Amino acid sequence: MSFSEADRNVSSFEPGAGRLKPRAGSASSARSIPLDGYWTFHLAPRLREMSDGFESPDFDDSAWATLRVPGSWQMEGLRGPDGTLRERGQAQWGRPAYTNVIYPFPIDPPHPPDANPTGEYRRAFEVDRPGAASWVLRFEGVDSHFTVWLNGMELGWGTGSRLPTEFDVTQVLREGPNVLAVRVHQWSAASYLEDQDMWWISGIFRSVSLLERPVGAIGDHFVQADFDHEAGEGILRVETDVPAVVDIPELGVTGLPAGESLRIPGVGPWSAETPRLYAGVLTSEGESIELRIGFRTVRVVDGLITVNGSPVRFRGVNRHEWHPETGRTLDPETMLADVLLMKQHNINAVRTSHYPPDSRFLDLCDEYGLWVIDECDLETHGFVQVGWDRNPSADPRWRPAYLDRVERMVERDKNHPSVIMWSMGNECGVGDNLRAMAEWARSRDSTRLIHYEGDYDSSYVDVYSRMYVDIGELELIGKGADERTVDAQADAHRRALPVILCEYAHAMGNGPGGLAEYEELFDRYSRLHGGFVWEWIDHGILQRATEGPNAGQLFYAYGGDFGEVVHDRNFIADGLVFPDRTPSPGLLEYKAAIAPVVLSIDNDSTLTVRSRFDHIDTSGLVFAWLLEEDGAELGGGTVEVPPVPPRGTARVRLDDTIAELARDAAGEIVLTVHASQAKERDGVPAGHEIAFTQRILAEARQQETGSTEGLPVVVSQGGYRLGDAEFDSDGRLVMLGELPVLGPRLDLWRAPTDNDLAWLGQAKAWRDLGLDRLEHRTARVQPGDGELVVETVSMAAGREAGMRTQMIWSASPEGDLQLRLHLSPVGRFDTGLAALIHDSGRVKRGTVPRLGIRMGLPGGEATLEWYGLGPGENYRDSRMAARLGRHRATVAELQTPYVHPQENGNRGAVRSAEISWQTGERVSITAPSGVDVSLRPWTSEALDAARHTTDLVPDGKLWLNLDIAHYGLGSAACGPDAWPAHRLYPHTCSLLVRLAQVR
Ligand code: GAL
Repeated sequence: MSFSEADRNVSSFEPGAGRLKPRAGSASSARSIPLDGYWTFHLAPRLREMSDGFESPDFDDSAWATLRVPGSWQMEGLRGPDGTLRERGQAQWGRPAYTNVIYPFPIDPPHPPDANPTGEYRRAFEVDRPGAASWVLRFEGVDSHFTVWLNGMELGWGTGSRLPTEFDVTQVLREGPNVLAVRVHQWSAASYLEDQDMWWISGIFRSVSLLERPVGAIGDHFVQADFDHEAGEGILRVETDVPAVVDIPELGVTGLPAGESLRIPGVGPWSAETPRLYAGVLTSEGESIELRIGFRTVRVVDGLITVNGSPVRFRGVNRHEWHPETGRTLDPETMLADVLLMKQHNINAVRTSHYPPDSRFLDLCDEYGLWVIDECDLETHGFVQVGWDRNPSADPRWRPAYLDRVERMVERDKNHPSVIMWSMGNECGVGDNLRAMAEWARSRDSTRLIHYEGDYDSSYVDVYSRMYVDIGELELIGKGADERTVDAQADAHRRALPVILCEYAHAMGNGPGGLAEYEELFDRYSRLHGGFVWEWIDHGILQRATEGPNAGQLFYAYGGDFGEVVHDRNFIADGLVFPDRTPSPGLLEYKAAIAPVVLSIDNDSTLTVRSRFDHIDTSGLVFAWLLEEDGAELGGGTVEVPPVPPRGTARVRLDDTIAELARDAAGEIVLTVHASQAKERDGVPAGHEIAFTQRILAEARQQETGSTEGLPVVVSQGGYRLGDAEFDSDGRLVMLGELPVLGPRLDLWRAPTDNDLAWLGQAKAWRDLGLDRLEHRTARVQPGDGELVVETVSMAAGREAGMRTQMIWSASPEGDLQLRLHLSPVGRFDTGLAALIHDSGRVKRGTVPRLGIRMGLPGGEATLEWYGLGPGENYRDSRMAARLGRHRATVAELQTPYVHPQENGNRGAVRSAEISWQTGERVSITAPSGVDVSLRPWTSEALDAARHTTDLVPDGKLWLNLDIAHYGLGSAACGPDAWPAHRLYPHTCSLLVRLAQVR
């Protein structure tokens, strides 16, 4: 192929040439020869530097490297031949690049840039007995534009990275050795259609295979398996292009001719809660195909999405395909890990944002039970930068490419029962090409719903879909009272549709906060069918630090780490699981928020069980209670709960022994009830907890704290003594018993979270107020009768907003040092940027990230044991997963390793805690009314300055923050700020804590 031909193809509006008609993939009895493995590979930096004649079988590629297929050359090149990570900057084949919306090349459609990295792949293989059949070469996914030659003959070219492409090779395939050559261009006209928020990486990233198609083989098949919920019957019809018959031994179906409809009694329906699949076989003259049939009927009835007659609620996530070492190439174990993690965290739905996934993932969704919105590989968001000028969605020249994409998705995935909606794509603006896709999909497959969020008046979709809606607006939508437009008819139509949030609760960094409020609305308004958290996984890339004290250690890279000219930093790290699939606190919170049974303990010791299941009752669950006094177990047992029907409620009287045990105790009495899986089911193991609730039955009775007399304050040289505590002349605590400390000081700063740092986040205002650089002026140090009173005024250079801190210290003869802390604001917090930061249209008052104190303790390995909320981190708008109890974690375990370091690790409502060092030292902390505690081996300032986890180095101290309150987490990185009730305004407040060195 000449340069000019290649150049013409990469600038073509057409989706490809020489390809076969799209069809369903299948597990067939016919031969399938995998062509995965190591191919020889050469990367040309530009089209003009392509290798002449590389497609010829005789081409000498002995000097070429080898590259793994499937894989992306940028990801594969990050490792050396022995598999170890190369130094950054030494990558072998280009580098990954991350942008969200912006195109990383000039907007000059349909032309790609000259700098068009072009990968040339070659592979020899042998085939015996090719004679009697036709042969098809199948590519599951090639990113982005590729041309294929077999034995020197050009077969055609294709685009549509995350969609399969097939070529007929019957005439070209030889008995014995064959040579396959594939040239892949990173950029092409198609790149304008693939502007998803993800890494730009290229190559043959999904499997390649050679398929034998015997005479009489099935070209395509379409399994339509409805469920008539009234009759309890399945209705089956399988369409094929050649005569064939269907057998389903389990249902006694034998020899059902393709094309005929059959009603089958006694069929179990498929749903995400009951993923009942029947094994079937479709046999034609030439082959037999394995079928996995799930009977289900999806319909909108009275404005509600129903499956098998029952309305459904989505507890969903948006899933990109990602692996920190292989990029968008996933192995089966990783796909299964995703499905199991989802099932075990109460997730029941996936939007395959923003392209059809590896089809094996859909097999797993069928098998384990996940509702799927299958989304087309389409996004043109970058045109927003130019006011949507020349957006392909509205340009007829691109229509064939749009239709090609939707056809290939629908044809490939039409036999998956888990897929209940087809999504036309994401963020493509508006235009008739999208409508044409929807019309095509509807005409081809009337058994599923059509989704596209960007169809604002919902004229060609079946659901009204929104992103990142504020709870205020969501409530109006729930009521059908949302915003009116100029088009009354369109409004009426939209208001009659079911609603989903195809994206909400942006899980970037620490968060999302405020999930409970969404669930409450989903519970209240039947029209609201739930939503899909953005997003499942942080797309971090595993790298090794090359400099600094942590050189050699691993970290996850994000946008900008590979020298990209334009990039969107860590906006790519916004998932519920970390890059290695460790659940983040956000996933645990989501699990609690969306629990399919909602438990609550009422005053009179009754338990209420409200089911959010749509199709099953609760008989698969077991319920148990646990009673604790100050975190120590008093008793426990099971709770008999009769099966609660789908969406039903039951009230159950709890065991009388609970009240008896509680009566005699003096401490804080907490009752926990939890629901867990009775038997293994769909990937959720027996005993796995799915929901819990707690109730404080009795507060701790006032305990005698020993003598009421405080010890006298001794004025010593250069300071003061109170018992065994020493203070300097400014009244700052310097010794706690024998432990040198940097005594507590006001702290109003936190290392901003990604939500704080958002465009409309609070961090700019906080920094503008100088909350990160407070200076402390000692206003008064007064030794009194058994008390040392210290007053400080803290504010930043050039600023007048701050706090007056009063610390009243006293000591008991038992060795407890008591601090009564009073904070009161001084100056104005609503000036400068604070006055500009969005506060949902309310009076702008200026906020603070935290109200509390920080002190420095000796460093070293240490452990925290606490009685309070845990075991994981928790914040005021993200504490549904936290339980009141006794917990223990090392200082290292207390830190949450967000890909982009930020505030983390808070444990709320801590009544008592003890820090114990490996050296044997111990310090106790008591706060009767509860305090937020964080303990780190570095300061908030260091956390703020760090760009990656490996930038963090213990500084020789442990920094203890004791906070009265925090600003909520919210979701402002892309969406609403913390809800009003979770914002923190400077106000007068107090705290009582006791500190002691334990001996
Ligand atoms: C949405 C978009 C997603 C992602 C998200 C922010 O608008 O659909 O792809 O970019 O914002 O993380």
